[in-house]
Amino acid sequence: MYNITIIAGARPNFMKIAPIIHAIQKAKSEGFAMDFRLVHTGQHYDKNMSGSFFDQLQIPEPHVNLECSGGSHAEQTANIMVSFEQELLANPANLVLVVGDVTSTMACALVAQKLHTKVAHVEGGIRSDDWTMPEEINRLVTDSITNYFFTTSDTANKNLRESGVNDDQIFFVGNTMIDTLFKQRPNFIKPQVWTDLGLSEKAYIVMTLHRPANVDEEAQLKHMIDEIIANTNNLPLVFPVHPRTAKILKGLNISHPRLHMVEPLSYLEFNYLVERAKAVITDSGGITEEASMLRVPCLTLRDNTERPETITLGTNELVGTNPKNIKPYLNKLFEGNWKSGNEIPLWDGHTAERIVDVLKRFIPNC
Ligand code: UD1
Repeated sequence: MYNITIIAGARPNFMKIAPIIHAIQKAKSEGFAMDFRLVHTGQHYDKNMSGSFFDQLQIPEPHVNLECSGGSHAEQTANIMVSFEQELLANPANLVLVVGDVTSTMACALVAQKLHTKVAHVEGGIRSDDWTMPEEINRLVTDSITNYFFTTSDTANKNLRESGVNDDQIFFVGNTMIDTLFKQRPNFIKPQVWTDLGLSEKAYIVMTLHRPANVDEEAQLKHMIDEIIANTNNLPLVFPVHPRTAKILKGLNISHPRLHMVEPLSYLEFNYLVERAKAVITDSGGITEEASMLRVPCLTLRDNTERPETITLGTNELVGTNPKNIKPYLNKLFEGNWKSGNEIPLWDGHTAERIVDVLKRFIPNC
């Protein structure tokens, strides 16, 4: 039996692992000698940051939850490493599969490689080249000890080749997050906030902010929100607030009749809102991918992106972190000059099948 330990820790991981698990289950039912063990590190633990994703995306109960939440990045990394080392020693695997760029991704890759277990990284090779982002450090460390890279873009392939990775370690398969998006699109759920606020199609904006660069500095966060409010043509702003951001906002007392701060939404509710929005304003990487594929204009409040194809092919524009940049981009949106977006190679809903086709080749005597 070829045993794959799959790691999930934080919200953006769950939509990436769901289709891989389903594809492994299918391969297993067809007689392929592969199985998986799902390890939740517990990095995210709230029902609306974690539990609801398992329910909605039909992800099976994790075999184990390491319950490593909270603490500084160093504490979180260390706690996950100590717990995952015990887990992997007790339940050895042929392969540890990590996804994305969160702390759990890096911590578990390190443990696996030190126990001489091969590592596969789904979404390997993407780079923002911004070393102030914790995610970029996680990507660099993870990719420096990964054996098999499942990539989302040709840029990622190029980055990996330039850093000395051999072609036979790189598998350009597409984007598992988009597998989930396409599969779940017919199941999106109208959230309560839609009815409560009397929202209508293309007549509101969704915003999310959680990057330390934007939210950890009170003045920066306030300035950004003020600029957004001032330049959104009387449209309601629906703002599902990440726990990190909520902590900072508490002290800021920001309020405006058009600004509607709500709890983080479940996957199916959030994407219902995105699909029908006039635009999305965000600092998340994953949301730029989803908005692009749903053909919704996306304004990214960051100075860089590790996902350039969302700009060259998708509906995303890099607004930057200077709040003064927000107005011209919103003007462009309201003038009706936003790009409508194109398809992105291999973001077609079949990425997980391609990943599992590669994994089948790893089964001994297959
Ligand atoms: C993490 C990821 C980031 C991802 C984001 C999505 C890293 C370095 N960052 O950032 O890439 O885009 O998740 O959500 O891994 N908290 C709760 N409830 C939860 C989860 C977190 O209250 O369910 C609190 C934590 O206690 C902490 C804060 O939110 O105080 C931040 O959580 P943390 O996991 O450290 O990083 P994120 O900012 O969520």
